[in-house]
Amino acid sequence: MSGGAGLPGEGRVGGTAGLPGTVTVHDDPAGVAAAAADWLLDVAGAAISRDRRSGDGRFRIALAGGSTPRALYALLATEPRRERTDWGAWEVFFGDERACPASDPSSNYRMARDALLDHVPIGPERVHRMEAERADLDAAAAEYGTVLAKTCPPDLPGSAPRLDCVLLGLGENGHTASLFPGDPALEVTDRWAVRSRADYAPYDRITLTFPVLDAAREVAFLVTGAAKGDALRGVIQGTVPAAGVRPSDGALHWFLDGAAAAAI
Ligand code: 6PG
Repeated sequence: MSGGAGLPGEGRVGGTAGLPGTVTVHDDPAGVAAAAADWLLDVAGAAISRDRRSGDGRFRIALAGGSTPRALYALLATEPRRERTDWGAWEVFFGDERACPASDPSSNYRMARDALLDHVPIGPERVHRMEAERADLDAAAAEYGTVLAKTCPPDLPGSAPRLDCVLLGLGENGHTASLFPGDPALEVTDRWAVRSRADYAPYDRITLTFPVLDAAREVAFLVTGAAKGDALRGVIQGTVPAAGVRPSDGALHWFLDGAAAAAI
């Protein structure tokens, strides 16, 4: 699908006009993955250059879970894109994690490892896994928030840790990360990661909170398939959790395929 100037496929198509931020629409999930991969490499390069001016040149990213981002991660892990970034500068976090062992097929960390992290030279000390297999999820979440605060300097003292990029998916009920409708985690403003509860197994989760999502420099949703139409409408109407993602002074992007865009 063609759009306006800028990113390939950029432009408002039908009902996407109500989505906040920039929207690009692509022919299919493979097109979404390719566009998001190229966009992410540019974001990483800019972040590394910016951070070299005041620090050691890191790119701090929170990866999305679920199934949609797998194709994006696989593209990053293979040529020609694999050689287009300094993997040693990447510092990897997660938007959320399911309460299961890291080796479990349901684990978002496992998915990212299989598709990306096992195939690129990011040091293990730069991959920060949410330890959602622990019995005390509150403690695990609090410790994760402390790691975030130590490694992602906030804009203002005491404010939310600032990531360079957050990747997000969108559930059919409008959840994102593991911020589910009606969950108390939606109201948290003074912690960076908390336990939450999903409406599908694995039910118990750890999730980043809105303050961290909104502090990020770049936030991108990857949404494919007609089944996400109701959720996208919920974002436009402000009736679902994903509508709460509003970067304070960062940029928000939607990478949609035609089926998702047409379903709005
Ligand atoms: C999770 C994800 C979740 C996901 C959406 C979309 O742990 O379930 O973080 O927020 O992004 O449910 O999932 P799909 O990409 O599989 O549609």
